Amino acid sequence: MEFSIKSGSPEKQRSACVVVGVFEPRKLTLAAELLDNAARNHLSDIIRRGDMEGKTGSTLLLHNVPGTLCDRVLLVGLGKEKEYGDKEYCAAIRCAVKTLNETGAFDGSVFLTETTVKKRSAAWRVRQAALVARETVYRFDRFKSKNDKVRRPLRKLTFVVERRNELMVAEEALNQGHAIAEGMSFAKDLANLPGNVCTPDYLGEVAQKMAADHKIDCEILGHDEMSALNMHALLSVAKGSRQPPKLIVLHYKGGKSNEKPVVLIGKGITFDSGGISLKPAADMDEMKYDMCGAASVLGVVKAAALLKLPLNLTVIVPSAENMPGGAASRPGDIIHSMSGQSIEILNTDAEGRLVLCDALTYAARFDPETVIDVATLTGACVVALGHVATGLFANNEALARDLLNAGDEGHDRAWQMPLWDDYQELLKSPFADMANVGGRWGGSITAACFLSRFAKKYVWAHLDIAGTAWKSGADKGATGRPVPLLMHYLLERSQKLS
Ligand code: BES
Ligand code: MN
Ligand code: ZN
Repeated sequence: MEFSIKSGSPEKQRSACVVVGVFEPRKLTLAAELLDNAARNHLSDIIRRGDMEGKTGSTLLLHNVPGTLCDRVLLVGLGKEKEYGDKEYCAAIRCAVKTLNETGAFDGSVFLTETTVKKRSAAWRVRQAALVARETVYRFDRFKSKNDKVRRPLRKLTFVVERRNELMVAEEALNQGHAIAEGMSFAKDLANLPGNVCTPDYLGEVAQKMAADHKIDCEILGHDEMSALNMHALLSVAKGSRQPPKLIVLHYKGGKSNEKPVVLIGKGITFDSGGISLKPAADMDEMKYDMCGAASVLGVVKAAALLKLPLNLTVIVPSAENMPGGAASRPGDIIHSMSGQSIEILNTDAEGRLVLCDALTYAARFDPETVIDVATLTGACVVALGHVATGLFANNEALARDLLNAGDEGHDRAWQMPLWDDYQELLKSPFADMANVGGRWGGSITAACFLSRFAKKYVWAHLDIAGTAWKSGADKGATGRPVPLLMHYLLERSQKLS
């Protein structure tokens, strides 16, 4: 789908469909009013008859509206004006795009981007509109032999801004929206792949190809190289699988050569059966999503490269498949991580932290400015925060604040959880430096505490995306989160640098 920006009045648009909003109850937005004036009260007459109350999620498609140059007018309900915020705005855009996609319109001029959203700028509205539009038309039908394609899909959307002097920033915002959407859709495509296709090998190939397309350096370490580096925590996870583990490393160099990189680490477990501590059968298929951290950080480099961000970015993906088998790690096994710290593996299903801890140790060699790891790490995080907020942990308050703000700006929110020392005791082991699990309570916190022991040398944050990386149920699928959060963090950083 193509996007463009324009300013102008709705009655003068030569378009297949002009989209304007109506607030509840029956209150025309500015653009709707302009149309109504040109159409000699055609719209207000219809509304008076009670066909469009303005409720969120409602639409009314009109043909042959007099006094206009467009084929159709789509009225979209925006809900009560007083309550109109982020959520309502995104819902209205989603509703408009869905309806346009189902009508015969090839293109649309969307005036919803002119409506005032609490605390948000015109640039935000345009960026978000592009993201939501792409999300609405996203399909994953690679494995369907008959794909029920939309007959005449929507090809082009024009977002209208109120004033000509907003055009420049709106263009820039649109460009950002496009890049973030590309990153998200790349992440979603990768994450939605089943475990028999998306193996650590495959993940490496995709990363390599994406890197080559964007002139990004890519290096992939195999079993022997990792063994030479003493990455026995990572390797212990792969032992039960036929699939060899990989450590994928990408360097995007958009900044000065002497500038320290931001390092992003993504958990890349291509399937998590739990290993010998086998998971129950129900919903185990969803553990193909245990590489969503990896998919999102790869999506972020892609988006950063598209925007030519003026900073250095390193991505590390520790990837393995967690399977039971004769060679698999056993509960009670003790291994030595790359850091030298020994770990008693009490539960082989707590494998994410094992692959991440060696990646965190490895990250230090790049002399990072900041390290952020992203992982579908704990079911406990889903219990705590549900499917709305990502769990955020950090050893630095300024970084935590920046990430929370970035999440707010990208409507991809995180919530900070404590990393207090009091929780560290739960990881005590009688036989090794630590156990890999901390017992029943505070599971997402003890997991983060475990990681913190490998991140002492730099400023670090951990994002637990177990509840936010994918959706279950009828519209099952990867969400592309937290690509928006991370991109807004990087955009903000780029602005500070330049
Ligand atoms: N990948 C899972 C976490 C997960 C579970 C994400 C459900 C999303 C939904 C992780 O590897 C895991 O199995 N964690 C265990 C840790 C426990 C053994 C301490 C968990 O959360 O149950
Ligand atoms: Mn697990
Ligand atoms: Zn896992």
